[in-house]
Amino acid sequence: MASAYLKARPGSPLKGRIRAPGDKSISHRALILGAMASGVTTADDLLEGDDVLRTAAAMRAFGAGVERLGPGRWRIEGRGGFVEPEDIIDCGNAGTGARLIMGAAAGFALNATFTGDASLRRRPMMRVLTPLGLMGAEWICRQGGRLPLSLRGGGLNGLSYRLPEPSAQVKSAVLLAGLHARGVTEVIEPEATRDHTERMLRAFGVQVELRDESGERVIRLEPGQSLSGAAVRVPGDPSSAAFPLVAALITPGSDVTVEGVLLNPLRTGLFETLIEMGADLSIQNPREAGGEQVGDVTARHSALRGIVVPAARAPSMIDEYPILAVAAAFAEGPTRMLGLGELIVKESDRLALTSAGLAACGVGVGVDREAAEMTVVGSARGNHPVRGDADVATHGDHRIAMAHLVLGLASQEPVRVDEPGMIATSFPGFVELMRGLGASIEDEGNAAA
Ligand code: S3P
Repeated sequence: MASAYLKARPGSPLKGRIRAPGDKSISHRALILGAMASGVTTADDLLEGDDVLRTAAAMRAFGAGVERLGPGRWRIEGRGGFVEPEDIIDCGNAGTGARLIMGAAAGFALNATFTGDASLRRRPMMRVLTPLGLMGAEWICRQGGRLPLSLRGGGLNGLSYRLPEPSAQVKSAVLLAGLHARGVTEVIEPEATRDHTERMLRAFGVQVELRDESGERVIRLEPGQSLSGAAVRVPGDPSSAAFPLVAALITPGSDVTVEGVLLNPLRTGLFETLIEMGADLSIQNPREAGGEQVGDVTARHSALRGIVVPAARAPSMIDEYPILAVAAAFAEGPTRMLGLGELIVKESDRLALTSAGLAACGVGVGVDREAAEMTVVGSARGNHPVRGDADVATHGDHRIAMAHLVLGLASQEPVRVDEPGMIATSFPGFVELMRGLGASIEDEGNAAA
């Protein structure tokens, strides 16, 4: 039976070398592009977290052959297009899966109905439905643009769309729909977001034009292009690597290396921030793999200091604020994080839950929701050590759970989190891997079956 809680307690230093699980963003895209393509795609080191497994099942439902050949090794046989699924597509907890698949499906003459778990059913889908509607797709959804929703695709026109919010998911949905539209599709990004869709489309044989227009990034797709199967090797997820690395930075005596981490500059905002805070973080073996930069990242326990994290950096570290806030709790002085508007619409309201969790652990934290900023007051080099001794309600958010477990490894008293099963959405094996580094994380209680 699954345990109801996990409890992290302070203990020994963390030491060792590990591999982070495959990047979640790239894993979703490998499956979706593979299913849209003609021919065979292979994916190695694919993340086998619940979110990605839902996307694999969805791609089968849209007509692709999707087969697991071995651990992390998958074969996708694309049919060059989607067929109408016979049943509802359940994307589980995955916003990326839901939004990208909706964009991909909109290009084909089919009806599809999408749903997800309680968290995903609360998340805003208008950001995707609006541009898809402008391209000619039809949809009906719950009030507030929530799932479940039904989409009728096909007969799309190209669109020039300026992203109202910095969202790689919305950008990707428009580009994937644009592949099967009449006319040119263009996405204009005032702030650059992760570019895995653009990179991977190129690897699948699609011409993607990129240009800079007065500081904005313009991505342009000519119509009538088809995708051919490709071989994708998925690098380690920097958003997952962040947890053991920050754990090492805040736990005295630690020295941890995470191998093969994706170092795409649109994903490395956390590493830049930690280095500015004084972290002993170094990269060895930088190399290119599958069109992306990767490297081995080492973190050693460090005396961190608080800084101001500019709003412009938010898109490159949007999933990392909960764990940055934990690092900030152990720094000297306040860390002010700006431009956090998008944090509110993640798997949970992460602005609210990060501040509530830290406050429960005795950390000084202030939030200005109107200004979308958070300030964490660090523990001033042991003068006011982080207390811990809290039960943290994660609201089913995997990153809220992992961030607070990391905090519990370096606080004075243990920290307990609920719904630990959700960690497997992005980081299956997190607990075992952290235990392998020396972390004390215990199972507590049994969840109802
Ligand atoms: C993702 C984009 C981001 C990020 C998410 C993955 C992607 O979401 O938070 O975990 O793979 O495109 P937004 O596009 O909503 O910012």
